[in-house]
Amino acid sequence: MSELSAHRVIVTGGAGFIGCALSERLAGAVGKWVVIDSLHPQVHEVQERPAALHEAAELVVGDVTDPAVWDAVLAEVQPTVVIHLAAETGTAQSLDEATRHAHVNVVGTTVMLDALGRHGIVPERFLLSSSRAVYGEGAWERNGGDIFYPGQRSHAQFEAGQWDFAGARPLPSTAALTVPKPTSVYGATKLAQENILSAWVNARDTALTVLRLQNVYGPGQSLVNSYTGIVSLFSQLARRGESIPIYEDGLITRDFVYIDDVADAFVAALAEEPATGIEAGTPTFDVGSGVGTTILQLAEAIAAYYSAPAPHITGKYRDGDVRHAECRIDATLGALEWEPRWPLDRGVAGLQEWIGSQL
Ligand SMILES: NC(=O)c1ccc[n+]([C@@H]2O[C@H](COP(=O)([O-])OP(=O)(O)OC[C@H]3O[C@@H](n4cnc5c(N)ncnc54)[C@H](O)[C@@H]3O)[C@@H](O)[C@H]2O)c1
Repeated sequence: MSELSAHRVIVTGGAGFIGCALSERLAGAVGKWVVIDSLHPQVHEVQERPAALHEAAELVVGDVTDPAVWDAVLAEVQPTVVIHLAAETGTAQSLDEATRHAHVNVVGTTVMLDALGRHGIVPERFLLSSSRAVYGEGAWERNGGDIFYPGQRSHAQFEAGQWDFAGARPLPSTAALTVPKPTSVYGATKLAQENILSAWVNARDTALTVLRLQNVYGPGQSLVNSYTGIVSLFSQLARRGESIPIYEDGLITRDFVYIDDVADAFVAALAEEPATGIEAGTPTFDVGSGVGTTILQLAEAIAAYYSAPAPHITGKYRDGDVRHAECRIDATLGALEWEPRWPLDRGVAGLQEWIGSQL
C-alpha cells in the first residue's frame, strides 16, 4: 500500500470495530489520517478514544450527519481517499428505529457528499463498507432448477414455524449475479449508501469500491452492544456457563468472517487502481469466509470451547431475519490480492482469548 503514503485519508466511523482493526494497517502506510467518529454510546462503553485506535490516527469526535463537523474537518484536510464506515448497524433494531438508521446511514452519506461539494473537493476514491444485508434472502433454486427470489418471510410464516421456503435451496450470494433485495431497513440503508455514492462518483468522474461484508467477528468487537455481534453474545453466555438459546430450528446460516481478514480486504481493495467511469461499473466485492455455518454449529463450537452446557433450540424468531446468508468469494479472490486466513474454529478461539483478556 505504499502509494497510499501520498494520500490524505478520512475514515468515518473509524473508531469502531472494523475501523480500529484497519487503523493497525493504515499506520505506516498513510502519513496521517483523520477519523470522524461520534463514539456512539451503543458501541462505546465510555465516550473516550478507544485504546485499539492506532495512535497515529487523528480522532475528531463528531457526527457525520452534522454539516458543521464536516466543514471544520474539510477546512483542515482535503481528503484524496474517504473510507466510509460510520453507520447505525442494528439489523433487527432498524425495524423499530428506522429513522435513526436512515438518518445516519443515508443522510449521513449525503451530508458528507454535500460538504465535499461545498468545499470543492473531489476525493480520488471512496471505499464503502456495505453489507451482505443488501441481498436479503438472496436467490434460491427450486428443485426443478429454476432460480427465484423468495423475498421476505412473513410474520405468518414465522408464526407457523415455516423457517425455509419449501421445495427450494438457497444459493450463496455473489455481487455480479445476485440482485440486491434487502429485507431489513438496515439493509435498505446500506444499499442506498451504495447507490448514492455511485451516482455521485460517476457524476464527478471519481471512483468507488464497495465491500459487501458478511458477519464480521473477532477481537475488538463491542461486548456491550447487544444489538450486533452474535458471536460475542454467544461467547459471553457460554463463558458464564449458560446454555446458548438458539432461534428457529438452529439452521439459520451465516458466513462468519474474522476481523483480520476483513481489515486485510480493505487494504487489498485500496491497493487496487481505482476504476473510474460508468463503463467500469462500481467494483463490488463480497467479503466473507466463503463458508456457511449454521447458528447451531457456531453455538456448539463456542459452548465446547468453554465446556458449557449444550445450546438449546427455542423456536423463537425475529421478524425480518434472513434465513440463509452466505456468499461466494471466488470473484473477490480473483480480483484482489486477498484470501481469508481464519477458519471458524481458529477465529472463535482467537475471540475467546481476547474476551478473556477484557473481562
Ligand atoms: N461488523 C459487521 O459484521 C459488519 C457487516 C457488514 C457491514 N458492516 C459495516 O461496516 C461498518 C463498520 O461496522 P463496525 O462493525 O465497525 O461497527 P461499529 O459500530 O463497531 O463501528 C461503527 C462506528 O461508527 C460510529 N458512528 C456511528 N454513528 C455515527 C455517526 N452518526 N457519526 C459518526 N460516527 C458514527 C460508531 O461510534 C462506531 O465507532 C458499518 O458501515 C457497517 O454497516 C459491518
